[in-house]
Amino acid sequence: MIEEINKHIADLEKIKLKDNDELEKFRIKYISKKGIVPFLFSKLKEIPDAQKREVGLKINSIKEKVNEILSKQKKKFTKTSSDQSFDDLTKPANFIKLGSRHPISIVKNKITDIFLKIGFDISEGPEIEDDWHNFTALNLPEYHPARDMQDTFYINKNPDWLLRTHTSSVQIRHMENNDPPIRTISPGRVYRNEDISARSHCFFHQVEGLYIDKGVSFVDLKQTLLHFTKELFGKSKIRLRPSYFPFTEPSAELDIYWGLQSEADYRITKGTGWLEILGCGMVDPNVLQNCKIDTEKFSGFAFGLGIERIAMLLYQIEDIRTLYENDLRFLNQFRSSI
Ligand code: PHE
Repeated sequence: MIEEINKHIADLEKIKLKDNDELEKFRIKYISKKGIVPFLFSKLKEIPDAQKREVGLKINSIKEKVNEILSKQKKKFTKTSSDQSFDDLTKPANFIKLGSRHPISIVKNKITDIFLKIGFDISEGPEIEDDWHNFTALNLPEYHPARDMQDTFYINKNPDWLLRTHTSSVQIRHMENNDPPIRTISPGRVYRNEDISARSHCFFHQVEGLYIDKGVSFVDLKQTLLHFTKELFGKSKIRLRPSYFPFTEPSAELDIYWGLQSEADYRITKGTGWLEILGCGMVDPNVLQNCKIDTEKFSGFAFGLGIERIAMLLYQIEDIRTLYENDLRFLNQFRSSI
């Protein structure tokens, strides 16, 4: 018996296997139910007690060696997928999953591109703001009732710190640090203390614009916004409806004529054909003075719009929350829009 076992051990040292078929035959020969290893173990009871331990260990070493060969050779014969594609060069390449831009980024880029082309630059600022830049400098002193228009989240540790409610705060910072002429747009995330629903959220994204120079008038505001709506929506009928913002005087809402071609047009324009797109106006001289800009020499206009609103309009998104859920089934639909 010992001799037989030693012979098997010697055989195993010399073993050479070509492929998976041979490997399988080898496995069956040694360790299948009727293979050599179980057979040897079954013979163990015939061995005298004194030798049982030695023989048992030897059989075990055969089993270990077989398993080692099996796992080593298996690795060798199982090729990686990239090896396989080299075997057959006509095979299609491995599929690479391409990401897509988020609709908010797509729309933000579209808007900023339009203004970059006509000489605006981009300015950014902090999302955690102080009261001065978000409210007071914008002609919204403490206890002014218009503060109710934009309730926000305050940071408890410091009563002066809050989450900005608009990127007009960036415009204040920009005016404080730059002399006119100023042509800048400020994209970014803003916060409002509002209930979450299909149409509104406690945070959203804005793009605000500011143009300060000598002799800037309402005509410049209107022409700039007309150019913008033509570029973004392909629509050239607009109207400026009187409105109120503490930081602009006069103030207006820009509506575009969307049209009433389809059933959806009736729904989104509430049957009027008109759609409100953004708020705008001539910068209030108080705001310019707060930023140490000479109001005898300079005037300017400003506007601000919500990116989500525009994205929902352009892509017919019914519920604002889908924009923040990161559901790939939703996001993958924007692949071609990049
Ligand atoms: N800051 C205003 C808002 O967030 C938008 C706006 C900007 C209106 C500039 C007029 C001029 O609602």
